[in-house]
Order: sequence, then C-alpha cells, then structure tokens
Amino acid sequence: MLKTRFLDEMLDLMRFGEVPAALHAIYGYLHALRDNSETWPQSIEALRQHRLHGVLLEDSFLSHCFTRPRGYPGDAGLIDIIYDRKLPAAANDRAAQMFAQTTGTAPCEAVRLRREYARTLVADAHRAGQRICVLACGHFREGDDLIGQDLSGITLVDQDPLSLEVVRRNHAVQGARIEEANVFAFLRRAAQAGEQYDLVYTLGLTDYLDDRAMVLLHRLLHRVTAPGGRAVVANFRPDLMCTAWMEAVMDWTLIYREDAELAEFGRSAGFAPRTWIDPTGHIAWAELQRLDLAAAA
Ligand SMILES: C[S@@+](CC[C@H](N)C(=O)[O-])C[C@H]1O[C@@H](n2cnc3c(N)ncnc32)[C@H](O)[C@@H]1O
Repeated sequence: MLKTRFLDEMLDLMRFGEVPAALHAIYGYLHALRDNSETWPQSIEALRQHRLHGVLLEDSFLSHCFTRPRGYPGDAGLIDIIYDRKLPAAANDRAAQMFAQTTGTAPCEAVRLRREYARTLVADAHRAGQRICVLACGHFREGDDLIGQDLSGITLVDQDPLSLEVVRRNHAVQGARIEEANVFAFLRRAAQAGEQYDLVYTLGLTDYLDDRAMVLLHRLLHRVTAPGGRAVVANFRPDLMCTAWMEAVMDWTLIYREDAELAEFGRSAGFAPRTWIDPTGHIAWAELQRLDLAAAA
C-alpha cells in the first residue's frame, strides 16, 4: 500500500529542484505497488489525494491526459503532444523539466515510432495507388508528408469531429473521403456496401477495445479487406514499467495485449498474421494478410 511519507518526500525533492530524481523514484515506486492488485486502487486514490499529484499536473502533458478535455482518454490532441513535444509558452521551469522528461519516456518514443511506421505504410500504399482506409485516424499525423497531394483513394474515419476538423484544416480539399463515425458503424456500412480496401489500419484504437469488440473488429476488417490486401493493428503490451505511472498519475488505462493475442484475433477472422514488437518493446504489431485470392476470382 502506498505510503504518504514517500509522497511527502517526493514533494520535497521536487521543491528542491530535484525533478528528474523525484520522477524516476515515483515511476519505480508505483510500478512496484501495482504488483498488489488488491491495494492498487487504494494506492491510486491516495496518490491523487496528495498535493504531489497537483504538482505533477503542472506538466501540460500529464494534465491534458488526466483532465481529458475532449471527454475521453487518449484524444488526438494528447497524441500530438507526444509527437511534437511542444512546451506551452506559459510553462514554468519545473513544468518544463517535467514535460521534457515525461514526453521523453520509452512509451512516448514507442508512440512516435508507431507514427513513423505508419508514415511509410501509408505513403507507400498511396504511391502504389492502393485503396486505403484509416480507422480512428485522429489528426492523421502519419499523413503529414501527404499534405498538398491528392488524397483520393484514402478514407479517414474518426468519431471525434474535432479530430476531423484538424484533418480537414491540414489537408484542405485534397480529395480524401472523411467520415465522422464510430468505426464499427462505419465498417458495418462499408461491408454491406461491398467496399474493399487494399490497406486498412488502425493505431491507438484497439488499446481501448475489450476482447468481444476485438473479435467483431477483426471480422469486419476481414470483410472490407480486399483479397491480397492487409489490415494492420498495434497494441500496447502488458506488464510494462510505464503502466502504473500511466494509470495512477495520468488516469490512462489501456487494454494490454501481446503479439500472440493479436495474431489469434487475426487468424480467427481468417487472416494470415505476421507480428512483431517495436524496438522499445512497448507495442505489439500485427499485419494481417487476406490470402483468399482464389475466392475473389
Ligand atoms: C489515440 S488517438 C489515435 C489517433 C491516430 N490514429 C494516431 O495514431 O495518431 C485515438 C483516436 O481514436 C478515435 N476513436 C476512439 N474510439 C473510436 C471509435 N470507436 N470509432 C471511431 N473513432 C474512435 C478518437 O476519436 C481519437 O481521435
């Protein structure tokens, strides 16, 4: 169970300017506490009641996540903070130090690498003239390289109108089909209409879907993936050092999965999966190939 005295000491460390040391210590301490699943909820509560939590929320990255300005966790504005690491002008020294450290952690690096991978994926598919569907596209930041290009052939789906407003602003009127919809409603409609995509991918979505929703998602993905085409998903992995910090400090709880679990969702839906782990070890990836070329003939 969390000790208030430890939090008092960390608060003192922060006041004496030892921000990196305090953050490292809190990170490790929370990680150890999370091992006890019975007391973990009380430990989270105790942290949030302590003045230290208020000080941590001076960091605009942590406070955006905790306060959820768009009403749900992990919005595209938060992901932009991770991508851009742009410190607000109003940040004081302590907030700036915290921001540099908290946006520099391995899980944030994993999110940036996720975008890098998607950047190549979407650029190559676009160059090859493939039909592309991006589900839960957020601000479609992996498509920044395509700004100014004709995006006909790309369908972008998100349920948040604010996300799509940013997409429209960035990409002006370059032909993309932009759909404000829940991905399940969109996929059902697309499948019924016989729509097919050579590449369909979703990043930062499956971490919020329970297993039942994952089964449905993969069935629908299979229906809209063209024979010979592929679907790509990525999911944060279980038992990471960052998990306790994210849950307790940031109120950012994900559903964690291993690559083998992603492969199984894909296989059960009829895909041939290929999986890998990102270089930081934080994110499991699956590329799901639809192989039934004969069925299409
Ligand atoms: C973590 S952001 C990821 C954005 C983007 N894919 C990226 O990797 O930068 C999650 C996005 O998913 C959208 N989203 C979450 N659940 C959704 C759902 N069921 N249907 C459509 N969009 C969803 C949110 O609106 C948000 O824009």
